[in-house]
Amino acid sequence: MNFSISLIVNGERRNVELDDPRVTLLDLLRERLHLTGTKKGCDRGQCGACTVLVNGRRINSCLALALSHDGAEILTIEGLAKGGELHPVQAAFIEHDGFQCGFCTPGQIMSAIGLIQEGQAGDDSERVREGMSGNLCRCSAYRGITEAVLDAQTRLAKAHRRDAA
Ligand code: FES
Ligand code: FES
Repeated sequence: MNFSISLIVNGERRNVELDDPRVTLLDLLRERLHLTGTKKGCDRGQCGACTVLVNGRRINSCLALALSHDGAEILTIEGLAKGGELHPVQAAFIEHDGFQCGFCTPGQIMSAIGLIQEGQAGDDSERVREGMSGNLCRCSAYRGITEAVLDAQTRLAKAHRRDAA
């Protein structure tokens, strides 16, 4: 039996037929939609490499059934840069050396965006580390990651104030 679902992925409607109701959102993104920027680390909710935003909230896509997200809006790392310009969080990761091998980076960036949108990033590194404790980095680039999140949050807040003025 096949199941049809329809998602908005990075602003585009994608209709997908699933032949197995157990397909995870992570496998759908990587294997069916070829959006391989979202990484599969542990495949059991322990590393955060697979973090994406679903209706604006960050989730571990390896733990999410694709079928249960029919109609959802999904944002992945591929959907961040606009017109060749990096998202401020992406730019901040580069400026602050927030990565080494880069494997965890898409998940870290999506989680950072979620944290900032939730208004939970605060302005101290401890709070950022706590808010991103579900995103592990085997290279231990935590210092750069934390600095990047704090910097990106400041820049985004300034841009928001400018837009509102
Ligand atoms: Fe999903 Fe590790 S791959 S949490
Ligand atoms: Fe290598 Fe984080 S940069 S795992």
